[in-house]
Amino acid sequence: MAGIHLYSSRTAATLLPTSFTDQRNFFPSSLKLQNQFPLSYSHVHLASTSRREATVPSTCRDTSELVDISWDNLGFGLVPTDYMYITKCSQGGNFSKGELQRFGNIELSPSSGVLNYGQGLFEGLKAYRKQDGSILLFRPEENGLRMRMGAERMCMPSPTVDQFVEAVKMTVLANKRWVPPPGKGSLYIRPLLMGSGSVLGLAPAPEYTFLIYVSPVGNYFKEGLAPINLVVENEFQRATPGGTGAVKAIGNYASVLKAQTAAQAKGYSDVLYLDSVHKRYLEEVSSCNVFVVKDKIISTPAIKGTILPGITRKTIIDVARSQGFQVDECYITVEELLEADEVFCTGTAVVVSPVGSITYLGGDKELQSISVSLTLGTTLELACILSAANLLVCIYKLKDLTKQRCLSLQQETWRKVLDFCSCNGSGVDHIHLNFHFCRVAYGDNGIGVVSQQLYSMLTSLQMGLTEDKMGWTLEL
Ligand SMILES: Cc1ncc(COP(=O)(O)O)c(C=O)c1O
Repeated sequence: MAGIHLYSSRTAATLLPTSFTDQRNFFPSSLKLQNQFPLSYSHVHLASTSRREATVPSTCRDTSELVDISWDNLGFGLVPTDYMYITKCSQGGNFSKGELQRFGNIELSPSSGVLNYGQGLFEGLKAYRKQDGSILLFRPEENGLRMRMGAERMCMPSPTVDQFVEAVKMTVLANKRWVPPPGKGSLYIRPLLMGSGSVLGLAPAPEYTFLIYVSPVGNYFKEGLAPINLVVENEFQRATPGGTGAVKAIGNYASVLKAQTAAQAKGYSDVLYLDSVHKRYLEEVSSCNVFVVKDKIISTPAIKGTILPGITRKTIIDVARSQGFQVDECYITVEELLEADEVFCTGTAVVVSPVGSITYLGGDKELQSISVSLTLGTTLELACILSAANLLVCIYKLKDLTKQRCLSLQQETWRKVLDFCSCNGSGVDHIHLNFHFCRVAYGDNGIGVVSQQLYSMLTSLQMGLTEDKMGWTLEL
């Protein structure tokens, strides 16, 4: 931890470049479709022209048919591609092999289960183009497995893992000219499973749709690979015990929009959630898992039903252990977060994102802060109390802080500390303060050594730059 200071609100920021924010019917004139139906897809049978089953091309090494878009400016927004995959089944039935259709709107009954009762799940994975033009998928069977677990929780039938992987392959190959060149991004793959049949009374839908669409993407956060700034949420919850936090239910994401939007309006990249029972233990960020590094030991919140079991999380744990790191899956308190040397997030979309700062005890007052070097007695501890909930959120040993850092406090607050100290001398145990904004910065705005190492190892594997001894990649 590099420093602690009271934090004032910043200007609003948006995540996506405007050119990629609303592109449902996006086919800009600059986007030259070199072949509307490239020769290499001639054996892909399309549902729009034929109801025959789609087959997968056997090779995709030809990069000459890449679409002509500005690959350097990809953000994380929808760029519609050529084809989507679709298949349906009835409640209690099994999905049959699906078909490719031109990407476009789908028809849904106004009384479908997904629209009325949120009976829906999604997945997210990526395809990378290698230098030799071939395409790599990363652990797609894990997404297939997670979709099955989610479907079970949401009372939906799901494709088998094999069907899932085959459908992903078929969709990627049909859209291969949208897989960015090496180093320019990836093709984000979005499988959806939803109750598409009509229901009126609350019940599982009678029919289900499994659909996959894709979009080329660049970095998820507007910061790119630069450290992101998170704020600890102390009002809204993402998940509760017994709920659906551990699966990718669509409703989990609608419910975080309010906190996320408010945070982004204040200039934060995203929100970090605490457990809903004690409001003290870290859970995860809106769409990624979190890791904390302290004295070379890596910790991440244990999966206990309220956290999504991220595939990147699982991979990073294995990669870090293979590099000799101790990795603990455990409870992590806010205090430990604030004492960390490094913090980073993981996810398919965010990859490994270093955290530059954490702000906690969010409020909306603009505070004037002053910096004072600490020269107080060594036995003194400073406890910060969240005034609203009377919740102990952190205890800093001033003894440790004096060695390396200074503490920025609001002038008035600092005066209280000084008054308290002069009254009580240096044998005092605790001072209780009300903090409105407190921001902890990590790594002097640079990328932490551990985050950097794990980012490089993960992306080298995903992009096929290092040998995959784990059998995690699937080459198309
Ligand atoms: C809530 C949440 N947590 C964590 C993750 C990271 O999961 P994965 O690494 O499988 O992408 C995601 C990604 O979708 C997510 O939505």
